[in-house]
Amino acid sequence: MPDPTEQNNCSVTICGTGSYVPEKVLSNADLEKMVDTSDEWITSRTGIRERRIAADGQSTSDLATEAAKQAMADAGITAEQIDLIIVATISPDAFFPATACYVQKNIGAINAMCFDISAACSGFLYGIQISQHFINTGHRKTALVIGAEKLSSMVDWEDRNTCVLFGDGAGAVVLTHDTDGNAGRKVLSSSLGSDGRQTDILHVPGGGSACPITPENADQNLNTIRMQGREVYKSAVNAMRKATEDALAGVELGAEDVDMIIPHQANLRIIEAITDRMGIPKEKTFINLDKYGNTSAAAVAIALDEANKTGAIKPGDIVVLVAFGAGLTWASSVLRW
Ligand code: ACO
Repeated sequence: MPDPTEQNNCSVTICGTGSYVPEKVLSNADLEKMVDTSDEWITSRTGIRERRIAADGQSTSDLATEAAKQAMADAGITAEQIDLIIVATISPDAFFPATACYVQKNIGAINAMCFDISAACSGFLYGIQISQHFINTGHRKTALVIGAEKLSSMVDWEDRNTCVLFGDGAGAVVLTHDTDGNAGRKVLSSSLGSDGRQTDILHVPGGGSACPITPENADQNLNTIRMQGREVYKSAVNAMRKATEDALAGVELGAEDVDMIIPHQANLRIIEAITDRMGIPKEKTFINLDKYGNTSAAAVAIALDEANKTGAIKPGDIVVLVAFGAGLTWASSVLRW
């Protein structure tokens, strides 16, 4: 079994963050009018109070573009300087071309090579790691990594088991070759993994090549999210905790060294189960799922930008990002901010 932990003795720095969420707010009270649920059930089981929903005609690449513009402004770079765009998403604009290519067109990043990755909620962290390899090996200099989702387009709005959980949004970072030695914000270590034996506990069964949507099955909503919540919950707690411990161990750090953990924003109970077991206190745990719900690949990206812009993370802090999603996939990165 290969060691899933990678140390990044690298010359890559995170030089900008950005995020965007659509204006429309869908509250728990709104959902009470749509399905048999209650604010009390949603809040106590998940911690979610409201989520954002993209406007008609607003696609994943539109959300990604706004986050990208913010990250570029924060980094102080032009679109021409970007030579790699990776969009992590499970709700692309289309099967092809890549959503990253639409973002390229929107921002005018004419020098970039562009592609999407599909690793569900872990996708943004997978994207950061992939971009580091491109930059570390000298093949690319400045990367835009975006987590973006319009999950409202793939939710069954009559299924109370899933429709209360998800929302739309996008977050982005700019990573660049670090000419300043060991200074700057860095990814120190990462641990990434997958378990393809559990593809069925969280998936969209239809709409792909295995089960195309046909006139005969079109009424079954096969192109919407299906989830065995309890199975996902158990796997999420175990995988996120182990990934975090492995990533920290990769640079000989422990939970006591963490200044802020920014976990995937799926469920407050999952987050508390992990941080309680690891002994990480609430004030060192970044939470915004009450406002946005689970935005899959965008969740950690949005949270990182908010933590950065609000000063919740400061220069020199040890910051842990950790995510878990369909596949199953998981990923954790230790940053020095
Ligand atoms: N409102 C009211 N009742 C509900 C609702 C709702 N919205 N949804 C389910 N229920 C009911 C169920 O029907 C069930 O009723 P029953 O006992 O009469 O059958 C009861 O509540 C309990 O259902 P459970 O599924 O057992 O509830 P649980 O406590 O496990 O919470 C939840 C469900 C919130 C989904 C939880 O399991 C969870 O968070 N799982 C992990 C989800 C996750 O992390 N996903 C991340 C990846 S997402 C991605 O990769 C795209």
